[in-house]
Amino acid sequence: MSIPSQFQIEKQTHQSTYLINGELKEWKGQTAEVYSTISSTEEYKPTLLGSIPVLTETEALDALEAAASAYNRGQGLWPTMKVEERIACMEKFVEQMKTKRSEIVKLLMWEIGKSLPDSEKEFDRTVDYIYDTIEDYKQMDRDSAKFHKNSGVYAHIRRGPLGIVLCLGPYNYPLNETFALLIPAIIMGNTAIFKPAKHGVLLITPLLEAFQNSFPKGVVNVVFGRGRTLATPIMKTGRVDVLALIGHSKSANAIQANHPNKNRLRLVFGLEAKNPAIVLPDADLDLAIAECINGATSFNGQRCTALKIIYVHDSIVEEFNSKFSAAVDALKFGNPWDEGAKLTPLPEPGKTAYIQELIDDAHEKGAKTLNAKGGETTDNFIYPAVLYPVNKEMRVYHEEQFGPVIPVVSFSDIQKPLDDMAESNYGQQVSVFGRDTEKLAPLIDSLVNLVCRVNLNSSCQRGPDVYPFTGRKDSAVATLSVHDALRSFSIRTFVASKDTSYNKEILNELLDKKESNFISTDYLL
Ligand code: G3H
Repeated sequence: MSIPSQFQIEKQTHQSTYLINGELKEWKGQTAEVYSTISSTEEYKPTLLGSIPVLTETEALDALEAAASAYNRGQGLWPTMKVEERIACMEKFVEQMKTKRSEIVKLLMWEIGKSLPDSEKEFDRTVDYIYDTIEDYKQMDRDSAKFHKNSGVYAHIRRGPLGIVLCLGPYNYPLNETFALLIPAIIMGNTAIFKPAKHGVLLITPLLEAFQNSFPKGVVNVVFGRGRTLATPIMKTGRVDVLALIGHSKSANAIQANHPNKNRLRLVFGLEAKNPAIVLPDADLDLAIAECINGATSFNGQRCTALKIIYVHDSIVEEFNSKFSAAVDALKFGNPWDEGAKLTPLPEPGKTAYIQELIDDAHEKGAKTLNAKGGETTDNFIYPAVLYPVNKEMRVYHEEQFGPVIPVVSFSDIQKPLDDMAESNYGQQVSVFGRDTEKLAPLIDSLVNLVCRVNLNSSCQRGPDVYPFTGRKDSAVATLSVHDALRSFSIRTFVASKDTSYNKEILNELLDKKESNFISTDYLL
């Protein structure tokens, strides 16, 4: 076992503070140890990475109070600040964040087992996301730096904040997906309480000081502990205006159910999915296999956008299965820093057992594991099994496996995958592999109404982040993209005045004196 020196854990991170109301408060209570499922020794042993505070209802409510007083019912410094000034705070934050790259990348590898290139990509993509958000917000501000006139009424329309945002992110993209919620939420003038994911929590700690010194007190509050313990009392107060969550619909529903005034609660959710690939008889098989490998196995299938079920036409299923199985078995398993490692340790200790259950259940109901390495288990990994033929009786057909197991279903009539997709609880994306436009045209016309992104001859993915990321049914609520997220975390609000000389004089004076941060036709460069 050789771990390159720059990636060794020389010092554990025992996080003893949390951020509330601009203060890094010292925690003296209970803590929870954070382990990596990656071993640092020859003989397998999870590695202790550090610990985090296990905060209680009291601190959760303190964080809420801090966010509420920073928002101050829309009258706080932050929600009334000039857009330009909020952007300056965000720029200050991202500049400091960039200095933490190696520390965060290292923790991404240890905490969630993400490969070095993917961990670097997650960090860099997040930094880009912040800069793109700033640019988009400037454009949005420029577009609203004007007056409309209709039916004798002038209107100066902008987007304003909604209030207090509770932000909960997932373990598979603990930095990127969480920040893709948090950053647009705060830049629009909201205040936030943010609880990092269960796995991928220490990697947030190098950023606490940057949050503290970049934003006015109470704008960003970071709490550690159990999701339900902290979120439940906060939601019960009815003071949260937006619940922003990437995770499972079960937790999303349970958390939102605590809010006493549901009509006041805006939901921004990215939820579970089971994106299918559909391989048509005339597909370029090599291309389809390469894309399906990438779609089903990158980050061990732990992506909401992963291909989680593959439909292959009867006429080519044999060839597909043999080539696909060989390609799966050619993937290298290793630790995140190992050169060329495509498969890496699973961060959840119970995951291998769960995947094994899915395999056993499918075997009992008639499927076989096609690839030789499929199901090989080590202390922190189970090699992806290609299961065939999979049918509706099997758990792996219905459940979002979110891990390394790949069900393959054959079809003779295209109506079968279409019916299955229409019946399923998911509706995020699909990948279609084929060439014949006469077949593709009607298929695309149906698929776009079943999911929200049809990927032609390529695997499913969220990026580029400027494109809409959303889903139907249990797969999402609201739309995220650099631009759409700014909309999701804000509301249109405007000043209207009848076209009279009296009002015009007032408006001109407001514009000339530049005393209002809202009424302004200044062009933000
Ligand atoms: O887990 C879901 C992510 O949004 C997927 O993003 O397609 O870039 O891996 P990705």
